Amino acid sequence: MSESILVPPPPAFAQGALVSSRAAYEALYRRSIDDPAGFWGEQAARIAWHRPYDAVWDAHARPGEIAWFTGGRLNVSYNCVDRHAARTPDRPAILWARNEPGEYETITFRDLQERVGRLANVLRAHGVKKGDRVCIYLPMIPELACAMLACARVGAVHSVVFAGFSADALRERILDADCAVVITADEGLRGPKRVPLKPVVDAAVAGLDGVRRVLVARRTGAAVQMTPGRDLWLEDELARQRATCPIEWVDSEDPLFVLYTSGSTGKPKGVLHTTGGYLVYAATTHRYVFDAREGDIHFCAADAGWITGHSYIVYGPLANGVTTVMFESIPTYPDAGRYWQVVDDLRATIVYTAPTALRALLREGDEPVRKYRRDSIRVLGTVGEPINPDVWRWYFDVVGDGRCPVVDTWWQTETGGILITPLPGAIACKPGSATLPFFGVRPLLVDDDGKILEGDDVAGNLCLAGSWPGQARTIYGDHARFLANYFSRFPGYYFTGDGCRRDGDGYYWITGRVDDVLNVAGHRLGTAEIESALVAHEAVVEAAVVGFPHPLKGQGICAYVITRPEFDAWDREELTGALKEQVRKAISPIATPDRILLVRGLPKTRSGKIMRRILRRIAAGELDPAGFGDTSTLAEPAVVDDIVALARGRG
Ligand code: WTA
Repeated sequence: MSESILVPPPPAFAQGALVSSRAAYEALYRRSIDDPAGFWGEQAARIAWHRPYDAVWDAHARPGEIAWFTGGRLNVSYNCVDRHAARTPDRPAILWARNEPGEYETITFRDLQERVGRLANVLRAHGVKKGDRVCIYLPMIPELACAMLACARVGAVHSVVFAGFSADALRERILDADCAVVITADEGLRGPKRVPLKPVVDAAVAGLDGVRRVLVARRTGAAVQMTPGRDLWLEDELARQRATCPIEWVDSEDPLFVLYTSGSTGKPKGVLHTTGGYLVYAATTHRYVFDAREGDIHFCAADAGWITGHSYIVYGPLANGVTTVMFESIPTYPDAGRYWQVVDDLRATIVYTAPTALRALLREGDEPVRKYRRDSIRVLGTVGEPINPDVWRWYFDVVGDGRCPVVDTWWQTETGGILITPLPGAIACKPGSATLPFFGVRPLLVDDDGKILEGDDVAGNLCLAGSWPGQARTIYGDHARFLANYFSRFPGYYFTGDGCRRDGDGYYWITGRVDDVLNVAGHRLGTAEIESALVAHEAVVEAAVVGFPHPLKGQGICAYVITRPEFDAWDREELTGALKEQVRKAISPIATPDRILLVRGLPKTRSGKIMRRILRRIAAGELDPAGFGDTSTLAEPAVVDDIVALARGRG
């Protein structure tokens, strides 16, 4: 059993590590639980405060009413940029690895201060004030990090939308957060592809009077349409501004950003993070989980459009004064050696990526890895989905040559930073397990009736007791939804939506979502969103979407669709093609169903509830009705036989 395999921290690493033994971890963990104010107060001392906070936190606050470091004033841009520019101006802050292999650009802390200052002045010149929301729809170019930090500098709230989302999805997010300014680029580059961005923004903001200004960065020089009075080239605007931009000191609990993520129901949620607690948490987790120190080159291969990029490309490393890599390309461009080429060229010391990328690379064998020097690497990390034990082994043995600890980090957009993870010098790993809670984190497993499962060797719904500084504070504009979503299913606790097992040694194994959220190639998608995209097509009467195990993506998307009789004459292929296109247009290519089954009916209970359990089994290729469980409440059992026959027919 993989469960019994223990991989201790490589001794040479453990020796010099920040936390270098299990006992040291336990002592610090105990302290963080027994005296959260003392523990987090010490961590907060690594951040510069303009005005000291009055209280670390309120232990008696109601669940869902969260505040940390109250009364304190600070600025994230000052902490991530200015204080390092003063001390280590020539240290690289950002190493930008451009899309084409071998092309790099270095931005020192001094450069970053200038670039952020200019951009912050541009925002001010266009009327952006404290509390205003700014939408950022940019590819992985330095302007993305600069724009985030510029918003923070003037106290504005950024809403970064991953530059793969469609015009419809972008429009919905711009409207929800009421953004008056959008920052974008002409195009993005992703491996061999050019990704048009400005035309997407044009479509997204068409007719929206609230959007006053669209600032456009030039990445490829592609010809784009500029709407007079609304659109301006970012570089022209930057040239008008000086680099010095006074700082807007904000309250600890003033919002820093909104980031949209998928839930099991309804529209995407604008998860809101505030300033003091988020920054302390991002910096503290970055430091301990990656054993980060001055001189590290932190290479997180995520996109800054997701929470991983927010916390571990931009805010965590920069708050700690650590050089961060921004990777514009994809892991397989021009070939499967690309990550390791970046490591070799930049002498990266920390690598952090998603299992889905590693699965794709493993398939290409060891040669593309071995070709490059990897002796600079100290720590390897993964995030976003469970990692298969064989992939973990490959990462450890081949990529890290058995020298580098692997940290499998579990967390969520809502948690702001890593919650369950090994510490690289302290915890013996079990491949596939995220192991143990980070400092201050109190995981609980709860059964469906709300009973807390004590002891080890139990499985249930993963909840968290108490609070930690990086916890989301609300859903933008809908606090009732925040409370209902996260704090009502198991009153008194934050419910993660994940299932989890705690093994005989107290190690945590995330088993995947227990709600209707999919994890496709590390991307979080709501089945409800995909279903509403499908039913928006004129041919569709009803749709049900489920996930199925997929060797590369972790989960694939299977859609069962009932179409209108008028469309019976259509070519099946053409119709499913049109439906896939519909989803791409409404959400993003990442949400495109892998399979669409055109069915005559959906299995429903007599009360009209779709029995997704059956659809999941069929999508997984388990067509034997004996495995469908209790089907006695089905309104029309024949519907299931039809679907099974259809699935069989597909071979
Ligand atoms: C899943 C990404 C297993 C989980 C930072 C969670 C993981 C969701 C892991 C959050 C991991 C994340 N092992 N599953 N190490 N990390 N997940 O909000 O289901 O994009 O709830 O945040 O990803 O996805 P999100």
